Amino acid sequence: MKKIRTQYSSLKRTLTICLGFIFCLVVMFSNNTAIGDDKKHSSKKSLDKKLKKSLKRNHVAPIDLGPTASLEMIELGQALFFDPILSGNRDTACSTCHYPTVGTSDQLSLGVGTGTMSPGKVSFFREKGPDRIHIPRNAPELFNKGSVLWTSQFWDSRVASAYGSMSSPAGSDLPSGLTTPLAVQAMFPVTSGDEMRGSITDFFDPVKNNEIADPALDGDLPGIWNALMQRLTNIDGYANPTDGLFVKAFGEVPSNLGFESAATAMAAFETSAFGYDDSPFDEYLKGDRDAMTTAQKRGAILFYGKLKCSTCHSGTLMTDQNHYNIGAPQFGPGKDETGLDLGRYLVTGDESDRFKFRVPGLRNVTQTAPYLHNGAFYSLSDVIMHHLDVKKSLRNYDPVAELVQGPELSDTYVDDPDVLNELIYSSDVRKKKIKSSEMADLLEFMNALTAPNIGARLESTIPSSVPSGLPVDEFDE
Ligand code: HEC
Ligand code: HEC
Repeated sequence: MKKIRTQYSSLKRTLTICLGFIFCLVVMFSNNTAIGDDKKHSSKKSLDKKLKKSLKRNHVAPIDLGPTASLEMIELGQALFFDPILSGNRDTACSTCHYPTVGTSDQLSLGVGTGTMSPGKVSFFREKGPDRIHIPRNAPELFNKGSVLWTSQFWDSRVASAYGSMSSPAGSDLPSGLTTPLAVQAMFPVTSGDEMRGSITDFFDPVKNNEIADPALDGDLPGIWNALMQRLTNIDGYANPTDGLFVKAFGEVPSNLGFESAATAMAAFETSAFGYDDSPFDEYLKGDRDAMTTAQKRGAILFYGKLKCSTCHSGTLMTDQNHYNIGAPQFGPGKDETGLDLGRYLVTGDESDRFKFRVPGLRNVTQTAPYLHNGAFYSLSDVIMHHLDVKKSLRNYDPVAELVQGPELSDTYVDDPDVLNELIYSSDVRKKKIKSSEMADLLEFMNALTAPNIGARLESTIPSSVPSGLPVDEFDE
């Protein structure tokens, strides 16, 4: 009896082992895709592990968009940002060169300021007036510039905050009460003759009625700011003592306020309208591991690793806000008597700063072509390839093909061999090889920096009218 039982139990054991083996085989053959998925899953996991490490090492944290102001302040800032009344000739607003739906810039290599042939038009439809010059630099995008991390403004950081104090071209003329670099910046476009103020000819043209360009105010920044506040005082929508926009925002009529109040309001608008922290990359930083695709993650690993983009495009803003020479082609009217734009050198006077420009942050970079401080490249892959081989890119640079205003600007292209050699041999970027698959991944990563539904969100920041009654800029032929 005992024997039979042992035989039976050994038979059972053999059967169990056999069944187990067959089950294993079935699982192995029917589920070989699951094993593949597992592998994929673990490689995805290791990609995340690698990227997480890189981001940590590079101090990339979720972005803080900056202080939110009252709705009244933002509403005033929006009106001023879009109102051509701030330009001497009433034909140029901040929005003209920083138009929301074209990446908060103007799609031009070099901007077109006051005296235009086509007031109210932006981007390719904005034509330079006769006897006017192109603005020497490209209008930068305004994304996330209200973040407290941004301590510098302009391509050469001539407006900057350090240790609680503010430096700007106005020196001691800068009024007190401006608390952020973004607000300080907004004091300046209105004082630039080519951008917004206008020229002596405009002042003497009776049709233009441009009191802001009075040559008696040349070099007198406070005088220009006061003249603008005087203008705003005469517009009911801004100055009405019960519901004027200044009264609602500051509790005061404009005649009791300085232009710093207008600048503060414009900065509040820019902060609220152009701050985005929900691109796939930003969501990834906040912890959503599925926010980026595998290709985007591979691109990010190249950006923070092998390609060393993050030596300069570092940290949360993707810029160290420092200045480097990456050998950008030179063209346009230039910034001084040399006819060149020497960049940061113009602020510091330090020879080692020649041709250095501030590193741009790269949020929404797919929306902001053309690129660099003068819009020298229209294609994102061209500007990246330029970084990777400055010599080849400069030697082969074709201004007619690359520049948005090729026919107008190509004559000004600087092909002087001395300048080209200086740009090439003093450049701060090192030559690197890149495979086409790597470039594809890198461009995918650049796509991951774009906020979702950005076109409609930007469109919604454009008002239908402004208090002066002047036409609001339109993107339209
Ligand atoms: C005619 C075109 C034009 C107009 C009008 C204009 N800007 Fe700009 N803006 C530029 C250009 C060009 C630069 C870069 C100049 C430089 O770096 O030297 C710039 C720079 C800036 C910056 C600095 C961004 C950064 O990344 O450093 C901000 C902010 C800005 N403008 C806001 C404004 C505001 C606010 C107004 C209206 C008061 C205005 N702009 C009017 C063309 C324009
Ligand atoms: C040595 C510092 C440095 C490194 C490294 C670097 N960049 Fe840049 N990058 C800059 C500077 C400075 C500019 C602006 C130069 C100018 O305007 O003349 C710039 C501009 C750009 C722009 C144009 C953005 C705009 O808004 O105009 C892109 C895109 C860009 N870099 C991507 C990259 C990528 C991708 C890498 C890695 C392959 C990289 N950069 C490596 C310094 C650097």
